[in-house]
Amino acid sequence: MEPLVRLHGITVRYDGRRNGGLVAITDVDLDIYQGEVVGIVGKSGSGKTTLLKVLAGLIRPVKGEVVFNNHKLNGNSFRVGVLFQSPLLLPWRTVIKNILLPIEVLGEDVSKYLSRALELIEKVGLKGFENSYPWELSGGMQQRVALCRALIHRPSLLLLDEPFSSLDAITREEMWMLLQDVISHEGCTTVLVTHDVREAVLLCDRVVVIGGKPGRVRAEVRVDFKRPRDLKLQYTKEFNDYVVMVRGLLGD
Ligand SMILES: Nc1ncnc2c1ncn2[C@@H]1O[C@H](COP(=O)(O)OP(=O)(O)O)[C@@H](O)[C@H]1O
Ligand SMILES: [Mg+2]
Repeated sequence: MEPLVRLHGITVRYDGRRNGGLVAITDVDLDIYQGEVVGIVGKSGSGKTTLLKVLAGLIRPVKGEVVFNNHKLNGNSFRVGVLFQSPLLLPWRTVIKNILLPIEVLGEDVSKYLSRALELIEKVGLKGFENSYPWELSGGMQQRVALCRALIHRPSLLLLDEPFSSLDAITREEMWMLLQDVISHEGCTTVLVTHDVREAVLLCDRVVVIGGKPGRVRAEVRVDFKRPRDLKLQYTKEFNDYVVMVRGLLGD
């Protein structure tokens, strides 16, 4: 099977006037297959966000190539949805208008996406809040809105950058289950960047460990639990074995 996205020999350098530039990641090879949920774990500064930005077409690597569906990537030739740590909603727009924003930006007919927006809102448990403003919602609810916005245009690839790290532990667990449910319903290929090893093991089919300076792929671990996964899985020996293994690969 051909991968949906292939990263080959990716090196990213940030130009800095003082230190002559910083190589953030180097020689990164990564294949992502249709429908997979791939976790990327690494310590702070290891280049996780940089890698995600390469996948989003926001950064051009100085070396290597990104091949999408067998076509070389040129900027925005495929659709990605991105969810960051903070929801980044526009405060003067209602929930539904925030969710429909990418459609406006793409210059497409917003009315054609109205029923999809309402369906996503219901799916994430926000029915009744369509016309609320972001400041009327809790942090977890705002992140649900941001998830709908990331998905509205049916992206080929959903990119998540530490999306739950600012939520409390219980809300985070709720969001894990919600994300699993939404991903399987939408059938979207997903890359989840996190420094939370438990989150990666619970949600992902495969966990890619990056580390070093500059960041490189250190190891890949396939997680063989069947889906859907339950929160109780966290309390099993098998789960903890994976967590200990991935944690070990991260280094000191
Ligand atoms: N825009 C930038 N300009 C210069 N250096 C950057 C920039 N963004 C990230 N870096 C540096 O690149 C390295 C990797 O950063 P990043 O990809 O954000 O790591 P992570 O998301 O794993 O914390 C870090 O050393 C960071 O300081
Ligand atoms: Mg980051």
